Amino acid sequence: MRGLKIPYHVAIIMDGNGRWAQKRNLPRIEGHREGAKSVDDVVETARKIGVKYLTLYAFSKDNWKRPKEEVSALINLLRDYLKKEKERMKKNGIRFNVVGDIKDFPKDVQKQIKEVMEYTKDCEKMTLTLALSYSGKNEIVKAVKKIAQLVKKKKLSPKEICQELLQKLMGLPDVELLIRTSGEMRISDFLLWQISYAELYFTKKLWPDFRGKDLIKAIRWFSKRERRFGMTSEQIKKSEGEKT
Ligand code: IPE
Ligand code: IPE
Ligand code: MG
Repeated sequence: MRGLKIPYHVAIIMDGNGRWAQKRNLPRIEGHREGAKSVDDVVETARKIGVKYLTLYAFSKDNWKRPKEEVSALINLLRDYLKKEKERMKKNGIRFNVVGDIKDFPKDVQKQIKEVMEYTKDCEKMTLTLALSYSGKNEIVKAVKKIAQLVKKKKLSPKEICQELLQKLMGLPDVELLIRTSGEMRISDFLLWQISYAELYFTKKLWPDFRGKDLIKAIRWFSKRERRFGMTSEQIKKSEGEKT
C-alpha cells in the first residue's frame, strides 16, 4: 500500500445495522448478522495493512435500553463470534481485548471473553479491542476512582497525577483515525479521552455495507490530512522534511 500512512490506532463506531435491515424489510437482527461479516472483513484488512490497534464499538452501555429480544440476539452473535474466531485470531497473531463492563454480560459470555483474551495474550500483530457495555464517561470515572484509592492508600501522591497516568489506567493508546458509519455525526459516548486529536471520518455507508475496501478508502483520506497538534503548518512541514 504505497503512499498510505497507516494509523496506529483505528477506532470504529459500527452504526446502521438496523437501518440496513429496515431498508430490506428484514428484522433488525439480520442487519446485525450482516454487520458481523463486515467485522470479519475489516479486521482481516486492518491486520494485513499493519494497523496495530483496532477498536470496535460493538455494544454501548446505553444499548442495554434496547428491546430485550434485540439485546439477547446481539449477545448470541457475540457468543458465536468468539467461538468462531478464537482459533483464527491466534493463528493470525491477533490479541483479543475488551473495554467496558464485562460483568454486565451472562456468566458464560464473561468466561468466553476471558478465555479468548487469555488464549491470544501473546499475539503481537494487532490488538483487536471490542467495546462492550462501554461508556467513555464511565471509563474516565473509573480511572479517577482508582487514582483516589491509590492516593488514599498513600501509594500515589496527588503530584503524580498526570495525563500519562490516566492513559495508562484506561489502557488504550490515542486514536489516530475514528470512523463512524451510517451518516450520524456524533460520538455516542465512545472513547472520549483517547480521541482528543483523532481525525474524524464520517461515511453514509451503513455498517453492513462497509468492508475492507472502505477501510482502505478511509485510510487514504487519513493519509492526506495534515495533523498539526496545535502547531503551524510550516512547523509540521519542516519537521516532516527533517524526518525524510
Ligand atoms: C449499530 O447499528 C449496532 C449496535 C448499536 C449494536 P444500530 O443497531 O444502531 O443500527 P441503526 O442505527 O438502528 O440503523
Ligand atoms: C453507538 O451506536 C453504539 C454502537 C455502535 C455500538 P448507537 O446507534 O447506539 O448510537 P446513537 O443512539 O445513535 O447515538
Ligand atoms: Mg445506531
